[in-house]
Amino acid sequence: MHTTDGNLTESDLRSKFLQQFKKDVSDGLNSDPKTLPSKYFYDETGDDLFVQIMNMPEYYLTRCEMEIFTEQTEHLINEFDLNTDEPFELIELGAGDGSKTIKLLQRLLERGHNFHYNPVDISANALQGLEDMLAEKLPELKVKKQRGDYFGVLSSFKGDTTKKVVLFLGSNIGNMRDEKASDFIYRLGANLNPGDILLMGVDLIKPTEIVLPAYNDSNGITAKFNLNLLKRINRELGANFDLDNWSHAPTYSEETGIAKSFLRSDVDQEVYVEGIGQDFFFEEGELIHTEISRKYNDEILKDIISDTNFYYKSKIQDSRKFFADYILIRK
Ligand code: AVJ
Repeated sequence: MHTTDGNLTESDLRSKFLQQFKKDVSDGLNSDPKTLPSKYFYDETGDDLFVQIMNMPEYYLTRCEMEIFTEQTEHLINEFDLNTDEPFELIELGAGDGSKTIKLLQRLLERGHNFHYNPVDISANALQGLEDMLAEKLPELKVKKQRGDYFGVLSSFKGDTTKKVVLFLGSNIGNMRDEKASDFIYRLGANLNPGDILLMGVDLIKPTEIVLPAYNDSNGITAKFNLNLLKRINRELGANFDLDNWSHAPTYSEETGIAKSFLRSDVDQEVYVEGIGQDFFFEEGELIHTEISRKYNDEILKDIISDTNFYYKSKIQDSRKFFADYILIRK
């Protein structure tokens, strides 16, 4: 299994993580306006809550992309322009439970394609679950699970001229501002070869009545997900956020296509973060910005990839045109 952290032990990794977590929380809470990075949502509870979000009726994204992978599997594969005798590496960044990808994997096997499936994740647990599921459902599939960060894993393929198809699904790119997204896509391409494929799933700009409820579900799961960040800071950085004094506050602008999540301080309050050794003051109504979930259209997407080493080939949409999987080709 590939890890990018060399021979570091679990406890080295843990202290490295904690150091970065402290720095990010300190930087964010010392900024004006205050922010916290969304990547820290995903502890064990956060992973669990995100799975619950995906099952909420309001969170259309997952079902839209599932529809594409189920109803247009053949169309997707045809866009990859692969001969059945041409071996390739299928690499999935942030593979999750593989429920969408399995449709693609199954059809590729049926068509007789020759490939390895390389799911990439930082969670060893998630990868093991995925491997077990695939061993049972698609025993003939060749799986090479890759634990580590995306760029580390991709650089391990450097010099390998086998064709690559990289999947980055679920509108995960939407958590990045456009400039960062552009840089991220460029860096993905750095270790790929001309003609390699990036299949990127993104949520599309659409009316507020559809988008906003996806980030404010009526069961309050998304609220729990957002508030869990404070719980995590309490537990891992020894803070004393009182969760009763905070609420989930999402916004969406149809003009910009950007959904944002905030944590709102419901009272004037002071919070101590032991791991940072600092008190933070929050006024009633003050917001901590915790996440952006960008929505796209062709113009925005083409603009983002214009300063990368990819060009736009085509896109595949669900029947309601809520979501799109873009096929981008490495120049
Ligand atoms: C996993 C980044 C695609 O932004 O829609 C869901 C995360 N946040 N509800 C998204 C999320 C709140 C999700 N992504």
